Amino acid sequence: MPDTYRKIVAHKYSKNFREASEIVSTEIVEPGPSQILVRNSFGGVNASDVNISGGVYFSDGNFPFDLGCESVGEVVAVGSGVTEFKAGDAVASPQMGSAYSEMLCRNVEQFIKVPHCSPEYLSVSVAGLTASIGLHEAGNMGSGETVLITAAAGGVGNWCVQLAKLAGNHVIGTCSTQEKAKELKSLGCDRVIVYSEEDLGEVLATEYPEGINLVFEQVGGQTFDTCVDHIAQRGRILICGFISEYMGDPQEVTGPRIYHKLLWKSAQLQAFLYKDWPDKITSHLEALIEQVAGGHINPLLDPKEFLGLESAADAVEYLHSGKNTGKVVVRY
Ligand SMILES: NC(=O)c1ccc[n+]([C@@H]2O[C@H](COP(=O)([O-])OP(=O)(O)OC[C@H]3O[C@@H](n4cnc5c(N)ncnc54)[C@H](OP(=O)(O)O)[C@@H]3O)[C@@H](O)[C@H]2O)c1
Repeated sequence: MPDTYRKIVAHKYSKNFREASEIVSTEIVEPGPSQILVRNSFGGVNASDVNISGGVYFSDGNFPFDLGCESVGEVVAVGSGVTEFKAGDAVASPQMGSAYSEMLCRNVEQFIKVPHCSPEYLSVSVAGLTASIGLHEAGNMGSGETVLITAAAGGVGNWCVQLAKLAGNHVIGTCSTQEKAKELKSLGCDRVIVYSEEDLGEVLATEYPEGINLVFEQVGGQTFDTCVDHIAQRGRILICGFISEYMGDPQEVTGPRIYHKLLWKSAQLQAFLYKDWPDKITSHLEALIEQVAGGHINPLLDPKEFLGLESAADAVEYLHSGKNTGKVVVRY
């Protein structure tokens, strides 16, 4: 066992992840009571990594702080009194500061056991959880509904497609390229709209004149406005994120307030952050892990290889270039 490990910390607030971050070396300590020491094998890249580095989630001015928010690794040592985990167990950690670190020494509540130390189970911990809590808890997803997922071929999006199909819905997904469309069709997406070739609003107006029952919206800007325009009577729009505005200043919009569009359709607008359902996190994670282990869900993983902490900023920029299909993973 070495004496030190490396991790990425933010030394200032900036949405430019590369500028905000630096790799530092830190001492390995013995896990205390109720703690475990984990060697990370995979770190998950998330759209919101730039919001975390930019001080959007918290801006208490305490520097440095650890970056990233999901990892999978193997337990190497356990503290006194720990009975839930043993050395060799594979664990996932959907926690702030977990992704870009070669090792983690934290309390047991920050980890969940997974069947294998593999990127599929990394994808469960934030992407799967977000899709599941969003659709089931915030969105009250039923079956036999028309469900629209934007950025459907992304880390969270591919989970949404699979969960909405498993629940027995008609699923529409948006993406930018035919290559992504092919992946979405293989996941069972009923109608893929390649928005670089087809106009989203026109397709929805022509093919779904009754509107959409449930929208899982992740892009923002004009995409969000189009979804609002095509919501069904008593439809629900979930705001999961708005990646198109993360890197710049918020767009100023002048126009009638949104209730002019929602009231006449008895429609709901529901924003959500999965962390605001803390009592549901464990049960959703356990169900998702079972679905992956049983082969009912096949998390989409982006094939581009990112190796080591040095590649993390490249991986974050790659995700924000919109080129990824599925979860972007950094391997350690
Ligand atoms: N609410 C929560 O608790 C929660 C938790 C995790 C993530 N999220 C949100 O979920 C969304 C997806 O996150 P993710 O990490 O899984 O990312 P991702 O979907 O894997 O990657 C982003 C995808 O967004 C699409 N996109 C559309 N417009 C874009 C733009 N202007 N710039 C860059 N990409 C654009 C691209 O796909 P196309 O090229 O196919 O359009 C791109 O591949 C984000 O909005 C994120 O903030 C929310």
